Amino acid sequence: MEEPKISTRPSICFRPINPSDLERLEQIHRDIFPIRYESEFFQNVVNGGDILSWAAVDRSRPDGLSDELIGFVTAKIGPAKETEISDLIRYDSCKGEETLVYILTLGVVESYRKRGIAKLLIKEVIKYACSIPACRGVYLHVIAHNSPAIRLYKRMSFRCVRRLHGFYIINGQHFDSFLFVYFINGSRSPCSPFDLVVFILNYMRSGIKSVTSRLTMKHEEKGLKWLKCKDMTRCLLPTQNKRNLASERASSGYDYV
Ligand code: ACO
Repeated sequence: MEEPKISTRPSICFRPINPSDLERLEQIHRDIFPIRYESEFFQNVVNGGDILSWAAVDRSRPDGLSDELIGFVTAKIGPAKETEISDLIRYDSCKGEETLVYILTLGVVESYRKRGIAKLLIKEVIKYACSIPACRGVYLHVIAHNSPAIRLYKRMSFRCVRRLHGFYIINGQHFDSFLFVYFINGSRSPCSPFDLVVFILNYMRSGIKSVTSRLTMKHEEKGLKWLKCKDMTRCLLPTQNKRNLASERASSGYDYV
């Protein structure tokens, strides 16, 4: 792909992706992602099916290129209960059916990178998610060796909640992915500072009980150990639920990086 030339003062704007972006969108996906996306996916994005999208364009570009995509983010909203992170969401019966936004793909063409465009695209997604009272967060998968993307998500306060072993299969090779979540509208990660304090207090309390129990009955020690262990799991990252993952991929019909 020929890299677009950047003016000294680019003027970056955001707009929804539309049918005239189809070819360019497919081309950028081909160029920057290691996996292939179905044409059904692109049709769905450009026709505004059930996929949300934001395009970044540089209005300062000449020769009719001022509306050409230089970056994009695509996302999908769905019921939180049907996702693989349903166990991390705090449910509030007053809010109706809770939802989550899932980022499908995010990309910026190479010559426009390191200008904060991806950050602004993600902010658009977060702004949209925050505008929906029942929405509890924004989440995504990223291949474990994609350092620029991982740095970006961490910098934007996404929490890495899982490592999924062999999540991606690229050219027959298995690659791990990280699952990042940005909690919103009162939801929070089970490893928030509050939970950490609760965990430390529980740990200290069980430690004290353990000493007391050792001085009294030996068989109680077993029970306390179990209690301590159970408390710790609240703050440890849960491991991959392969069955959930498989069903989510099958129902969505796409593979994501
Ligand atoms: N001047 C200098 N540096 C800047 C500026 C600026 N004005 N603004 C931001 N930066 C720096 C950031 O600090 C950051 O630095 P770091 O990587 O050292 O932490 C870096 O630029 C990147 O931040 P952004 O500019 O917001 O991100 P960018 O627009 O470069 O896009 C992305 C990042 C999307 C990962 C891009 O590299 C890309 O398209 N990669 C290929 C596709 C990809 O990996 N997509 C994500 C996969 S995950 C998924 O799709 C769910």
